[in-house]
Amino acid sequence: MTSNAYEYIPLSVPIIGVNEKKYVNECLDTNWISSAGRFPGLFEHNFAEYVKTQEAVAVQSGTAALHLCLICAGIGHGDEVMLPSLTFIAPVNAVSYTGAIPLFIDSEEESFGLSPEAIEEYVKENCDFDGSILLNRNTGRRIKAIVPVHLMGHSCRMDEIMETASKYKLTVIEDAAEAIGALYKGRQAGTIAMAGTFSFNGNKTLTTGGGGMIVSQNHELLARARHLSTQAKSDEFFYEHDATGYNYRMLNIQAAIGVAQLEQIEKMIARKRSIHLIYQEAFAKVPDITLFTEKSYCRSAYWFAQLSVPPSKRNDFIQYLAGWKIQARPFWKLNHLHPMYEQCPKGSLTHAEKLVSEGVSIPCSASMSNDDIKRVISAVSSFFS
Ligand SMILES: Cc1ncc(COP(=O)(O)O)c(C=O)c1O
Repeated sequence: MTSNAYEYIPLSVPIIGVNEKKYVNECLDTNWISSAGRFPGLFEHNFAEYVKTQEAVAVQSGTAALHLCLICAGIGHGDEVMLPSLTFIAPVNAVSYTGAIPLFIDSEEESFGLSPEAIEEYVKENCDFDGSILLNRNTGRRIKAIVPVHLMGHSCRMDEIMETASKYKLTVIEDAAEAIGALYKGRQAGTIAMAGTFSFNGNKTLTTGGGGMIVSQNHELLARARHLSTQAKSDEFFYEHDATGYNYRMLNIQAAIGVAQLEQIEKMIARKRSIHLIYQEAFAKVPDITLFTEKSYCRSAYWFAQLSVPPSKRNDFIQYLAGWKIQARPFWKLNHLHPMYEQCPKGSLTHAEKLVSEGVSIPCSASMSNDDIKRVISAVSSFFS
């Protein structure tokens, strides 16, 4: 059978239900289409309840959420921030917006996340710690923070990262853009460190078209982030501003979609997890490939399903799936290889390099039909048999 008759299967597409349309229509019908209106506050309230924090602040994107968090954590010009080279570029850019310098640390195969051992190794080999300040001997700069990124819907090993951070007095901000609904030892990814951020970009499990959220148990931090997200306006009437602010506040229309999406988040995650289980059984019999599967301490939200394949076959495999009208893609190019970041300090990145050489993301949308799942399984199995 040729694949031409098939519909294209993308990696991750949204599910837009009845309430998304109803709530957006409410915004349109009442003229509240910008950042005022009832939905941003409601979305923040419901989101905080879902991830079990006191409060949340809704913004325009996951990148904006990270940028504000870093500023509110006191990260600025000349500081260094440890984060993985293996991630979508957004957190690296957010660090850079503040004037701080990314310090690239290796990832681990166990979670795809930042390796706690690699952080420790970098510090031991390159840094001096006087009991309060961690100094990078190679650059003469202070390392102030760690940004673990929870990739593909899985959680980093947060206990170990938090322990190291506490030992060296480093602030931790979790980037949970890809990991809404992922649990680490029963706690939501993004809620374990001082602050965490989420993305609601169109390809995320929960989408508002574009959008982001900051969560924290620290009221002052969130209040500051909220203030900065509305141009730091301190007087509504006379338009007084007490800091350099940003136009980062989430719109009513975006939040309306978010409220409706949140109503079905656990259903969407359950479907993604059941798709993953079907893949797991099918791919166990396929030679040469390994499907990443959650560890005992984590409930993965399986944003994408992630295969490891022999590096020599990776590109042909992706092309082959395209012939079946199935989207697949490699990991992102490692960030220390981009021209604007190639001068940044870094540790050994051998695990990140290995992961990139063999990683392929395949579709895992909650909206996939059983026929879609069968087609992905047939295509993957036929390439490797
Ligand atoms: C790991 C990671 N961090 C941050 C972001 C940024 O989110 P946004 O696109 O909403 O700015 C994304 C994705 O989009 C991401 O994958």
